[in-house]
Amino acid sequence: MSPSTVEQGLQFPATGFDVYRTRQEFPILNQFVRGKPLIYLDNAATTQKPNTVLCGLNQFYGCCNSNIHRGVHFLSELATRHYEDARVNAQTFLNARFHREIIFVRGATEGINLVAYSYGRAFLKEGDEIIISAMEHHANIVPWQVVCEQTGASLRVVPINNDGEFLMEEYEKLLSDRTKIVSVVHISNALGTVNPVKEIIRRAHAVGAVALVDGAQSVAHVPVDVQDLDCDFFVFSGHKLFGPTGIGVLYGRESLLERMPPYQTGGDMILSVTFEKTVYNDLPYKFEAGTPNIGGTIALSPALDFVRSVDLRKVAPYEDALLKYATERLLEIPGLRIIGNAREKAAVISFVMDCAHPHDIGTILDSEGIAIRTGHHCAQPVMQRFGIPATARASFALYNTPEDVDALVKGLWKVVEVFG
Ligand code: ALA
Repeated sequence: MSPSTVEQGLQFPATGFDVYRTRQEFPILNQFVRGKPLIYLDNAATTQKPNTVLCGLNQFYGCCNSNIHRGVHFLSELATRHYEDARVNAQTFLNARFHREIIFVRGATEGINLVAYSYGRAFLKEGDEIIISAMEHHANIVPWQVVCEQTGASLRVVPINNDGEFLMEEYEKLLSDRTKIVSVVHISNALGTVNPVKEIIRRAHAVGAVALVDGAQSVAHVPVDVQDLDCDFFVFSGHKLFGPTGIGVLYGRESLLERMPPYQTGGDMILSVTFEKTVYNDLPYKFEAGTPNIGGTIALSPALDFVRSVDLRKVAPYEDALLKYATERLLEIPGLRIIGNAREKAAVISFVMDCAHPHDIGTILDSEGIAIRTGHHCAQPVMQRFGIPATARASFALYNTPEDVDALVKGLWKVVEVFG
């Protein structure tokens, strides 16, 4: 039997954030799965959507569906206005200087690919170096490997310690005048580590390198100000920020984007085409070839508004308390080990259990209506670093409650009963 929270004497502190009210914005959370109330703890994979985002999608396709930048008719003008308003909203959200520094892409993965293939192929040469960290998602490893193969540059990797922390002194040793690009994750999807990206960027600039931040996991948890970070590129995915799938943002410093060649070519990214010569469009359109994800972009705007309305600075103490509570309660389970114990950590808990493989843990929890992710989390080098094939991962969002943690703990006791 699992001991209850009350028996354990654990208290959940008041933080002033009303999670129960926030939950009401997310209709999907009120359902039963496998006959049990849904406990959704797979937010690092994708977040759920508030009513305003659902309405945004519905309204676009129901009332103003049309192609943008091309039409002279009413609906096209309306869709174009909403699409460009979303760009200004994203600019404000990231505190970018100019709206033309916001490029709409499919997601963080496409944003990194864009920078790797456009900037990387244009400006890297043999002997140059790209630095990443040992906790990167495959999306921030593989594009750089491909660019290295194509340009003769090489990839250097900053190691992490046993708690899953970025080793600043090892990074310092790797930096040199050969370093041209530093590309690091803000918050690790596999470990929850929050990286000191501002300092990482400062040191990259000190050797003349440009710095990219993969913000896929951070934008829903910490406020991001690209001018304050002084990053050259920042990427995020809408779907991890309570927005639709298939839409994301690449922020790029204007002076760099101006010098970079297009990543894809076709309609909308040109000013003029003849068979002899094509003149490319201005920023940001130079990087948005073809009909984009118009509906997804327009519905990203209410997601940004939602995050602004809850104010992540007010949510942070709540998520910290949830992380602390979940960590304490999970460690009650015999044979459970948490992978990733960084001092600066977001509400992501990767763990393994002596008695069961992560996939078995996930299956038992699923039968209890609890959704977690199991596997390597698209971060196989992290698994190799810790000598494990996979982890089970519970990742929290601002709508998760202490009761969700209690349900998770109860589910894990069932895993112990079945496999222990
Ligand atoms: N990158 C996503 C995750 O961590 C899919 O689950």
